[in-house]
Amino acid sequence: MLKIGVLVSGRGTNLQSIIDSIESGGLKAEIRLVISDRKDAYALKRAEKHQIETLYINPGDYEKVEDFEDEMIKALKEKEVELVVMAGFMRILSPYFIKSFKNRIMNIHPSLLPSFPGLHPQRQALEYGVKVSGCTVHFADEGMDTGPIIIQAAVPVLDDDSEESLSARILEKEHQIYPEAIKLFAENRIEIQGRKVKVKERGVK
Ligand code: GRF
Repeated sequence: MLKIGVLVSGRGTNLQSIIDSIESGGLKAEIRLVISDRKDAYALKRAEKHQIETLYINPGDYEKVEDFEDEMIKALKEKEVELVVMAGFMRILSPYFIKSFKNRIMNIHPSLLPSFPGLHPQRQALEYGVKVSGCTVHFADEGMDTGPIIIQAAVPVLDDDSEESLSARILEKEHQIYPEAIKLFAENRIEIQGRKVKVKERGVK
């Protein structure tokens, strides 16, 4: 069974969607640890409710980002984590962390990348005036929201959308595609070729 570690900073609805898919039997994986860089992240409460081990690491306690990351890496390796899932983790991982879990870190971003990377992608989409937006699950690399794309889902952008209404429409899709992408990984069906991800059919080696 695939051993997952989830990194969070906030409310944790994506974490919840992963927990729910595991509990309903759709996703054969085990969340070994949830790490937060914020003590008050509601995601920690969600994990605790499901008897999942949690760890809060205060970045302020470390002088160098690598030392903070080392603490995360140590905890993840101790739990034999095979896939790191960033679910609303509001920090950019340094190349040092990325190397420690090469091609084993996923992130979800609420836009159709490469459009609107970085902060407030839903606001960026509205301000730009696109008619379609969505979300992207990708592997994390050294850049910001630049790694190989695993799954994307699109939603319409409506004339009277606010940042909240568009975010809510996108979030619904996030909760579908994140567990799906993890499932592909768990089933060993993902092949990375350069910046492209090829998804293998079930049962094909
Ligand atoms: C999501 O929109 C995700 O795409 C982005 O941060 C948000 C996290 O939401 N990276 P939640 O904490 O999973 O509810």
